[in-house]
Amino acid sequence: MTDELSTLKSETAAALAACADLRSWDAVRVGILGKSGRLTALLKQLGALPPEERRQRGAALNVLKDELAAAIESRRAALEAEALNAKLARESLDVTLPPRPAASGLIHPISRTMEEMAAIFGAMGFEIAEGPDIESDWLNFSALNIPAHHPAREDMDTFYLPAREPGGRRRVLRTHTSPVQARTMLSRTPPFRVIVPGRTYRADHDATHSPMFHQVEGLVLDRNITLGHLKGCLIDFLRAFFAIADLPVRFRSSYFPFTEPSMEVDIGWNRRTGELGGGGDWLEILGSGMVHAKVLANCGIDAREWQGFAFGMGIERVTMLKHGIPDLRPFYDSDIRWLRHYGASPLTPAILHEGV
Ligand code: DAH
Repeated sequence: MTDELSTLKSETAAALAACADLRSWDAVRVGILGKSGRLTALLKQLGALPPEERRQRGAALNVLKDELAAAIESRRAALEAEALNAKLARESLDVTLPPRPAASGLIHPISRTMEEMAAIFGAMGFEIAEGPDIESDWLNFSALNIPAHHPAREDMDTFYLPAREPGGRRRVLRTHTSPVQARTMLSRTPPFRVIVPGRTYRADHDATHSPMFHQVEGLVLDRNITLGHLKGCLIDFLRAFFAIADLPVRFRSSYFPFTEPSMEVDIGWNRRTGELGGGGDWLEILGSGMVHAKVLANCGIDAREWQGFAFGMGIERVTMLKHGIPDLRPFYDSDIRWLRHYGASPLTPAILHEGV
C-alpha cells in the first residue's frame, strides 16, 4: 500500500474514533465514500493511469475501499449501541408504581341477556336468526294466522307506516319477533332450531311499557316433535338462565293464534319478597305452543312431515327479574350511573355454570 493510501486509512480510523455521535459519524462517512469523498476522488483518477499501473492501483484501492467501508460500518454499530445504552441508563421504570386505572366499558343488561340466551340455546343446538324491524303486515300478522280484524291486531297497538310495500301490503314496525318464524320457514328447509333476539314496537308507554322493547323468539321444526320437547327445552332454559337448578316451572293452557295447543309458562317466586324459586306464587314469563298447522301451511311447510314448537318472551322482563331491576325506563336512558350499576363486565363469560 502506498503511503498515500495508508495515510488515508489511518486518518479515517482516527476520524471515526473521534466521532461522538451518529451525526459526526455520517460526516466522516460522506467525507470518505461520498460523491466528493477522498476515496471516491482517488478512484476517479484511475482512468488517467497507464494500463499496468491502473490495474495495480485499482486492486489496492478496492481492498482499501472494503476496509474503510467495514471500519465505518462497525463504528456506526458501536455508536448505536452506545446511544441505546445511554438511553436505557437515562430512563428508569418504577415497577412498584400502581397501574393507571384503565377505563373499561360495560355491557348493557339487554345485550347481556341476549348473549346469555345465545349461549344457553346455542348449547342446545339453536342458531340465531334475524329479521327487519319494518315488516309487512302479512308477515307480522296474516302468515301467523292473525287475520285482518282479529282482536290480536288491536291488542298489539301496532305502529303502521304511511307508505305501503310495492305489492300494496301495509307495513308495520314489527309488534313481536314472531314474523321471523315465518321468514325462517319460508327461506329454509327443516329441520332447524332458531332463536331470534330483536327489537319490537308497540304504541304503549308507561312505567312498565316502552314503545320499543326487545323479545326473543324460538322456533324448532323437525320430525316427530312433541309437547314433551317444548317442555323439556323451556324448563332447561329457564333453570339455566335464572341459575336456579330446581326453579319451579308451570305450563298453563292459553291461546295464541299461531300455536295450537298454546301455553303460557310461569315460574315460581315469592310475591312478597320478589325472590325467584320457591315461595308458592307463580309469575308468567313467556308464551309458547306447538306451531299451528295453518302457520305451517301459510309458509309452505307440509304439516304431515314437520312439526314444531315456538315460544316468545320479553327480554327486558326476564332481565329485570334476574337482576332485581325495579323500573323499565332507565334501560333506555343511557344514564352512566345506572349502566355502571347494572352493566356486565365484558370479561366474564355469559354463563358461568354448566346448566345445559
Ligand atoms: N308473539 C307473542 C307476543 O308477542 C309471544 C309468543 C307467544 C311467541 C307464543 C310465540 C309463541 O312464538 O308460541 O306476545
